[in-house]
Amino acid sequence: MTHAQIPRILLPAAHVPPIPSKARSDALADHLASESASSPFLPLLDVRAGTEWVRQDLDLLWRTVLDHGRFVDGPEVETFESRFADYCGGAACVGVGSGFDALELMLTALGIGPGDEVVLPGNAPVATAGAICAVGAFPRFVDVLPKTLEIDEAAAAAAINRRTVAVIAVHMYGQMADVERLELLVQRNGLVLLEDASEAPGARFGNHRAGSMGRAAAFSFGPTMNLGGLGDGGAIVSDDAELVARVRQLADHGRSAVNPYVYEVGGRESRLDTLQAAVLTAKLGRLDEANRARQALVQRYRERLPSECVLVSEHPRSRSANHRAVVLVRNRSAVSRSLSRAGIGWGVHYPVPCHRQPAFAEFGDEDLPVTDRAAERVLSLPLSPTMTEGQVDRVCEVLTRTLRQR
Ligand SMILES: Cc1ncc(COP(=O)(O)O)c(C=O)c1O
Repeated sequence: MTHAQIPRILLPAAHVPPIPSKARSDALADHLASESASSPFLPLLDVRAGTEWVRQDLDLLWRTVLDHGRFVDGPEVETFESRFADYCGGAACVGVGSGFDALELMLTALGIGPGDEVVLPGNAPVATAGAICAVGAFPRFVDVLPKTLEIDEAAAAAAINRRTVAVIAVHMYGQMADVERLELLVQRNGLVLLEDASEAPGARFGNHRAGSMGRAAAFSFGPTMNLGGLGDGGAIVSDDAELVARVRQLADHGRSAVNPYVYEVGGRESRLDTLQAAVLTAKLGRLDEANRARQALVQRYRERLPSECVLVSEHPRSRSANHRAVVLVRNRSAVSRSLSRAGIGWGVHYPVPCHRQPAFAEFGDEDLPVTDRAAERVLSLPLSPTMTEGQVDRVCEVLTRTLRQR
């Protein structure tokens, strides 16, 4: 079909919302405040409360950025990049526009493309596989371990063939995959280990921090992440100076480092805005504190949950950043209905695993029984660093009542 033959679908006229007057926006703020004060609804994640935590810092940082006006490539970007690299135990960090961009740029910078295969777990957000497809490579989905739901190293080993170039450890729910065994695996086979550490900043495996293993790591700073901005953002962390320089170049339209008017390779534009970098720097300063709060709440869940709800467990050498509190439960729809009725938020991450997604139909003919079973049973419970132990108890009481009644 030529371009001229593609049917035109006319969009309705855009609705431009009126700019709220001061009186109107104050009323809205009051309404939201009273709603959260009186409503017993417990969200899966309270993004707004997480932002309140650093509000004073943010007010100051925003004012600074508004005053200097360098909304792109401002000094806050460099500050964040160096602090975040340091936090992860990496030599350098490049801020980009999103987690997806970080993954795609990392793969492109490594020269991964058509004809290459990249091994990754079936239990992962679609973004990781989407980035592999975006560079023209083949995502080879493998199964996960039944207790941790992290990539099964034996399955990864079995999937390696002559086209395989890399393995991506997608650290799920805040805990890290066994990066030590994966590192041995890639070394034995002459491959590259990469991390998708979006859900795990601050997590450890043994002495390794998330983002410090392998050739490079990608992070998302979307608003729901443990280190979440007030919009989209992402980063690549690596010790490899050449790789870092290539990512920087690709993320800046392929611009030459020597002559800014010359573009040496095909690239694109992807950057972490100055304002987001300022926000993330403020939040990074309190990330360990927030992760400790999450850890205490997950421990409370562990102690109070009925035995019919099994928390996805950690590898004994992993110290999770507890991005999500995920349980495995047999009758998920009944349980989630009870939670909704009790005014408790919940989520499913994910009901359709990557290898069953229509978008990846041509890559997903593998049988991944553990991933498939997990997709039927996983249920994410409320978890925000600002939650109270009483709120965890309330969730556990509803779950106990529901599951013991049956
Ligand atoms: C593990 C993982 N990787 C990648 C992404 C994609 O990040 P972004 O939404 O910033 O593109 C996400 C987002 O949910 C994620 O959880």
